[in-house]
Amino acid sequence: MNAMFRPLLSDLHDQQRHVESFKAGMRRFASGVALVTSAEDSVRAGLIATAVSSVSTSPPTLLVCVNKNSSAHGAIDRSGILCVNLLSAEDVDLVQVFSQTERRAERFASGDWRTLATGAPSLHSALVSFDCEVVERLSYGTHTIFLGAVKEVHSPEKYIDPLLYLDSAFRRVEKVDD
Ligand SMILES: Cc1cc2nc3c(=O)[nH]c(=O)nc-3n(C[C@H](O)[C@H](O)[C@H](O)COP(=O)(O)O)c2cc1C
Repeated sequence: MNAMFRPLLSDLHDQQRHVESFKAGMRRFASGVALVTSAEDSVRAGLIATAVSSVSTSPPTLLVCVNKNSSAHGAIDRSGILCVNLLSAEDVDLVQVFSQTERRAERFASGDWRTLATGAPSLHSALVSFDCEVVERLSYGTHTIFLGAVKEVHSPEKYIDPLLYLDSAFRRVEKVDD
């Protein structure tokens, strides 16, 4: 091998190792699973996202990181509306439907969907649905971070078992104290 290329290849190798250790670290981050929806001219779009967080309570604001290549990205960006539906463990089957591109046509075929004040679809069986208006967009690498001002919160009174994602697997919550 030409000595001139060695440092470049080793840099690349180091970068790949760095990315892999980042991914391995993030697999240890347990999170809820959100089905994020939007609608543009009454055409509904959605994706599964775990990169969701609260930003502030005053005003109530959350963020969602959306890959620019996902079909829902354009709908959220152009319509300026999104709804974060936290999935229950019973709705685990929706994860494949809303994350696999080849199942896009099935996306709103099952489930009890309602239209919220912003026009975004909410899943009636969700733990909670946050109906949001997009107030900021930050482009960073492959993703856009959308800040959503929460307009309405819909959640049923009864306890619903949440769906969790940890170590590339879907799980239920187990209590560790009494
Ligand atoms: C557990 C899980 C978490 C995901 N989290 C995110 C996320 O936070 N942001 C994102 O853009 N895509 C995320 N994805 C990927 C998208 O759900 C998926 O790539 C996208 O919906 C493909 O959409 P399209 O077929 O409409 O382009 C996640 C997928 C899974 C299975």
